[in-house]
Amino acid sequence: MDNPADSPKSLTESNPFLPDPDLLETLHVSDYQTIYDESIRDPEQFWGKIAEDFRWSRKWDRVLDWNPKTYEARWFSGSLSNITTNMLDRHIDEGLSNKVALIAVADDGSERVYTYGRIMDETNRLCHSFAEMGLKKGDRVTIFLPPTPEQVISMIACARSGLVHTVVFSGFSAGALKSRMEDSEPRLLITADCAYRRGKRIALLDTAREAKKAITSLEKTIVIRRENPDLELETGEIPFDSLLKKHASSGFFKAVDCTTDDPLFILYTSGTTGKPKGIVHTHPGYMVGTFLTTRWVFNIHNDDVFFCVADPGWITGHSYIVYGPLLNGATVLLAEGSPDYPDPGRWWHLVEKYRVTVFYSTPTAIRLQMRLGKQWPEKYDLSSLRLLGSVGEPINPEAWLWFREVTGGRLPIMDTWWQTETGMHMITPLPGVPLVPGSATRPFPGVVADVVNRQGESVAPGEAGFVIVRQPWPSMFRTVYGDPERYRKYWEEIPGVYFSGDSAKRDHHGLFHMIGRVDDVIKVAGHRLGTAEVESALVSHPCVSEAAVIGKPDELKGEVIKAFVILRKDAERTPDLELRIRQHVREELGAIAMPDEIEITEWLPRTRSGKIMRRVLKARELGLPEGDTSTLED
Ligand code: PRX
Repeated sequence: MDNPADSPKSLTESNPFLPDPDLLETLHVSDYQTIYDESIRDPEQFWGKIAEDFRWSRKWDRVLDWNPKTYEARWFSGSLSNITTNMLDRHIDEGLSNKVALIAVADDGSERVYTYGRIMDETNRLCHSFAEMGLKKGDRVTIFLPPTPEQVISMIACARSGLVHTVVFSGFSAGALKSRMEDSEPRLLITADCAYRRGKRIALLDTAREAKKAITSLEKTIVIRRENPDLELETGEIPFDSLLKKHASSGFFKAVDCTTDDPLFILYTSGTTGKPKGIVHTHPGYMVGTFLTTRWVFNIHNDDVFFCVADPGWITGHSYIVYGPLLNGATVLLAEGSPDYPDPGRWWHLVEKYRVTVFYSTPTAIRLQMRLGKQWPEKYDLSSLRLLGSVGEPINPEAWLWFREVTGGRLPIMDTWWQTETGMHMITPLPGVPLVPGSATRPFPGVVADVVNRQGESVAPGEAGFVIVRQPWPSMFRTVYGDPERYRKYWEEIPGVYFSGDSAKRDHHGLFHMIGRVDDVIKVAGHRLGTAEVESALVSHPCVSEAAVIGKPDELKGEVIKAFVILRKDAERTPDLELRIRQHVREELGAIAMPDEIEITEWLPRTRSGKIMRRVLKARELGLPEGDTSTLED
């Protein structure tokens, strides 16, 4: 399908998908444009009004204290709050103690159900344990767990104690976990004996033990014993269950008051250098932003069962499994494992079984389902679904249309564009607006986003440009942990505006059509990877002397990694060398970073100053014009 942004007669004019009349009656926001215009006229008033509904230990002096010189945005400055008071205490006081907060389904299909009351109880016990260990506000805690209730409760207990969690995706290797711990210097690590995927046991504790050897800041490790409740632990390792037992009657733990500057979490993501950056979010702004986007974008009501297929190890899971939905008092479905195990109907089966109403997925997952075939969704009763979502990478219209068709042909799809840094949805439809397959439509209320040229001027409709945000928004990241310079760079690329690193076009109706990254970030199946990160893993292989990595379009995963490597002179070129190099990257970083293809080469294009020109490699690979090569050395 042509990109609708290319033609003046866009799809919006000819054939948008209009909302179902039944849906219109349930909407929190029935008139996007009026709300949007109002929100932009006075963003502080807009966000301040939303924040009024939360519990605060102390109200703010200013909704936004913005320093345009340092780009520091202190939302709700002067306030004291704790996000968990608004996720737990408030709901429990309002009578939701017995409401199901979390349904966790493990890889083998076994289920555990947690009410708001039970989450509060286990959170309190864990908070008492943290206090007993002497952990103090601001201390970092690394959480290396599969998607399980313990992962969610560990995050919430850290937040409640004023500790800063850094969740590391459980598919990462020891090397990736270690580098994240080296940067954040945690005092505590929380992990498990194992994770499960496709019926296979993954030895998580071995990875954690390998990674933690060199972490001198680490004092203790809490271990969840999933497989063997009697597993013997090493010195410094404490079983999770013993802590819960010990504090069974320690009672209520009052949430620690946090200011606008107190970090809630650090989440590592890839950038253009080899070192992942620790994106820092703080309590009050993140709370207000994730609450409202969850509510309005997914049209959340009391009876919703929300299923987001991400892992809480990524930002999508932070914002839209843990914080946003629980702030809204919703019921969340958390699934360990894989979409096609034990069979390709797994997710559809979960939708039917738990009467899921909102299903938030990713383009790669949808394309995988397309490949597996319609017969799978057709086997299940999906009539509980009201609304769908997509995130992580551009969704092609074919996948969008298929997703809608197999779920009954009437459901709105929210194609939500946002980032680890933004914390919340930024460009997204609201249910009720006309939808165009493949478009994230327009900015969320309160968000001033645009597509611009290098000078920061809006580009003409149909022209590609950089996606930027002109004004601060509540759940924006506050800094890059330990590297304020790197934070400022986001605002200096085009002075004074937030530079997202993405490109897009707006059509003649102002709708956004996302294109992809303009920097050295690759999106493989929606996972964000830096070329430099993968390259440094490649050159750490004893046979590799130099490496360059590009993202190559892929029908299923959006992009896959192709690596060009120059071998060392003394490297022995065995038939399995490419495979060994790929395996090596897997061991260094994790399976998601493993290149699909390795090309052994004698030469890499470079600038005269020696910088590898990945752009040229990519153009050659794809048979595209190489662009300006005047800086290319001979
Ligand atoms: O390139 C954009 C892409 O994902 C990037 C952010 O990745 P990460 O920080 O890992 O967060 C992913 C989950 C929010 C963006 O810079 N991206 C995210 N959502 C979309 C998208 N690209 C197109 N359409 C989307 N809906």
